[in-house]
Amino acid sequence: MILVTGGAGFIGANFVLDWIDTVGEQVVNLDKLTYAGNLSSLSRLADDARHCFVRGDIGDSQLVRELLKTHKPRAVVHFAAESHVDRSIHGPEAFLQTNILGTFRLLEEVRAWHAMLEPAARAAFRFLHVSTDEVYGSLGGDDPAFTEQHPFQPNSPYSASKAASDHLVRAWHHTYGLPVVTTNCSNNYGPLQFPEKLIPLMIHNALAGRDLPVYGDGANVRDWLYVGDHCAAIRRVLEAGRLGETYNVGGNSEMRNLDVVHLLCDLLDELRPRADGASYRSQIRFVTDRPGHDRRYAIDARKLAGELGWTPSLDFASGLRRTVRWYLDNQPWVDDVTSGAYRGWTELNYGARSAAPVEGAHS
Ligand code: NAD
Ligand code: DAU
Repeated sequence: MILVTGGAGFIGANFVLDWIDTVGEQVVNLDKLTYAGNLSSLSRLADDARHCFVRGDIGDSQLVRELLKTHKPRAVVHFAAESHVDRSIHGPEAFLQTNILGTFRLLEEVRAWHAMLEPAARAAFRFLHVSTDEVYGSLGGDDPAFTEQHPFQPNSPYSASKAASDHLVRAWHHTYGLPVVTTNCSNNYGPLQFPEKLIPLMIHNALAGRDLPVYGDGANVRDWLYVGDHCAAIRRVLEAGRLGETYNVGGNSEMRNLDVVHLLCDLLDELRPRADGASYRSQIRFVTDRPGHDRRYAIDARKLAGELGWTPSLDFASGLRRTVRWYLDNQPWVDDVTSGAYRGWTELNYGARSAAPVEGAHS
């Protein structure tokens, strides 16, 4: 069996569902169930003996020790993190606690347990650390895409905390011989993403008749990858990635934010037209920019393609259509995850942002 951390979040839940469907091996899923973790994402596995859910913190050393001893996983896949850049700007401490200290405590428990394994099990064991392209910083418009050799230049509390965790994972390999691999992936989208991130937030606001808040001039560029393709990449790296290596994962789909929002509006106009016949584009508003907003991310994933044969299977247009359909068909899930403290968050993040008209930004 494998131990997954953060498996009730967006990518973790997609990974657990895909893992049970494709590999069929048992999963112990350790998740603290913060605002971002939702058991309703895993409801399909409620009666499935291959899924064992444990509510808890990766920083709880005793709990992790007991889980390792009881379940004897052959691998740990580490997703658990605070993941939202805007939240890290409003309250960085939780990011340092979970992403840095939590990862450190998890590594220490895994190291102690790994050291006691029989030689064959010890040799086969893997710790896969799921990280982000944001550790590399920001690119200019004509710069080449990030390779694995690009220096770390994190610019937000979130990316700084993830960069720190990447360094810890690397150090635990070099110093203690822990068998680790790390993936650095670009922006994911798809089913089960909490509506605080760009794509689900825009779908949610559009359907509710609310403003579509585009930060700054809307020309920041992100590389988008369908979450199912990220899960496939992680499975492949877990299976055949070289120890101590990092692998970039990307979608070859660089898009300006405003273009993403336009595409979303056009899809919604087609699939769920507004009652008044107007386009959802009329709800777009330019608002005060995110502080320290990285301008462009782009991923060079040729190492993963060349060594392990992984490439994305879905292009952005097909993935986005599939995603919009999923949100339209799964409104009860959205209602469930936005029923708690969601309102307080949107007031904190968007209430103080003034509308900032930007000349020429609609072109
Ligand atoms: P998410 O915020 O949707 O989910 C995070 C999960 O971790 C939640 O279920 C939460 O309850 C859990 N968690 C948080 N703190 C915990 C703790 N202390 N102990 C145990 N569980 C805890 O995040 P996501 O978007 O699914 O991202 C998952 C991982 O992938 C993160 O490490 C993130 O940095 C990385 N990543 C995300 C993206 C993306 O576009 N979303 C891209 C690249 C890498
Ligand atoms: O690049 C990988 C990273 O992608 C992951 O490591 C992070 O966990 C994940 O949250 C994501 O970070 P971003 O900051 O790129 O994602 P987000 O969806 O928050 O924002 C995407 C872009 O859209 C970014 O340029 C900011 C902009 N944006 C976002 C929101 C929420 C807006 O213009 N308006 C918004 O309301």
